[in-house]
Amino acid sequence: MTVATMLSEIETIGADRSRGGHSRPGYSRVDRELREWFVAHAQRRGLDVQRDRNGIVWAWWRPAGATGPAIVTGSHLDSVPGGGAYDGPLGVASALVAFDELRAEESALERPVAIGVFPEEEGSRFGVACLGSRLLSGAIARDRALALRDGEGDSFADVARRDGLDPELVGRDDAQLSQIGAFVELHVEQGRGLVDLDRPVAIASSILGHGRWRVVVQGQGNHAGTTLMGDRRDPLVAAAAMILAIRDLARATPDARATVGRIEPTPGGTNVIASAVSFWIDLRHPDDLVTAELVARTRDLVASLAAAEGCRATMHEESLSPTVDFDGGLRARLRSALPTAPELGTGAGHDAGVLAARIPTAMLFVRNPTGVSHSPDELVEDADAEAGAAALARVWGALARVPRSAPITGADLE
Ligand code: GLV
Ligand code: MN
Ligand code: MN
Repeated sequence: MTVATMLSEIETIGADRSRGGHSRPGYSRVDRELREWFVAHAQRRGLDVQRDRNGIVWAWWRPAGATGPAIVTGSHLDSVPGGGAYDGPLGVASALVAFDELRAEESALERPVAIGVFPEEEGSRFGVACLGSRLLSGAIARDRALALRDGEGDSFADVARRDGLDPELVGRDDAQLSQIGAFVELHVEQGRGLVDLDRPVAIASSILGHGRWRVVVQGQGNHAGTTLMGDRRDPLVAAAAMILAIRDLARATPDARATVGRIEPTPGGTNVIASAVSFWIDLRHPDDLVTAELVARTRDLVASLAAAEGCRATMHEESLSPTVDFDGGLRARLRSALPTAPELGTGAGHDAGVLAARIPTAMLFVRNPTGVSHSPDELVEDADAEAGAAALARVWGALARVPRSAPITGADLE
């Protein structure tokens, strides 16, 4: 089976007619349908499928004689609102196709292998990016996670319970982590690096540090016709000034990226001055100290621009991920398996980045001819998808063949 055929099987799941593309929130009905598709494929291949207490689905294969922690690949199936078809699912479909190749090497494998599918990687539902891998690795505390609320006001505790999980058992899971010797995530490239290099596949070098903040601006709701311009405390006007100031701050800071892609006025009527506005800032920079400085300056801007409109504002961190330089020894092993692949950094966040704090992780990127992502315009050509799956099979097999007596990574490999 090809990667393209696999992805065609799920193209209607979560298709969003109003936004275009796909809307696949984590821990949702759509998420469950996608999960069932994965489980059916994994079980057909004889993999041992388990859903762990955080909702991560693992499909294990333990060839005779293979012992110790597994070499794991995988990605996510959730999406941003109106997202593309490849961000996440490409890594899952490629894992299944790569597994079909790996199976032929059964007798040579020294280590078990597995595929992991992580929930809510985009954080589109509960605001926290990579929620599944954060829970698994302990990067978010259970109580904080359970109290998160989605756009409908439902708590993560209730949503998790409805999705078949026990909220009391959600959280850091060292036993599960100890079964993973290394994690390699294949992902569509989300920029133009491979297009410019004219190559189908790259090895990841780093992930840009990134975070999210929710700003709430409170003003005075009122009538659009009877309230004189000088008498207004309009939080949308304050938010507009803040959005421009944040853009200007990022423009003035080399290598910074700042985005406001979501804004929600309350109550949201054409002839109503809003009483409050929430908007979300996504801020990224390679140097975590610069990120901290940008956040501090943004807080000051938010406070002063709110006051200038007679409003009050709060700014609350939803998630923060430091810059990640992928494990040097593991990258060296990937370079040996794929000697002609270039190495590229990325500005996008990934579960492999969160897990890097606890286990050796690595990534492969597959060319995206549009260079566009988090949009229906994201694309992967069929031939590149196959090249990606073949590269993943090579890397996966090479790691699983590393003798059990040898470390999978280490400074001496670099
Ligand atoms: C996820 O793709 C992110 O970078 O926000
Ligand atoms: Mn994404
Ligand atoms: Mn992704």
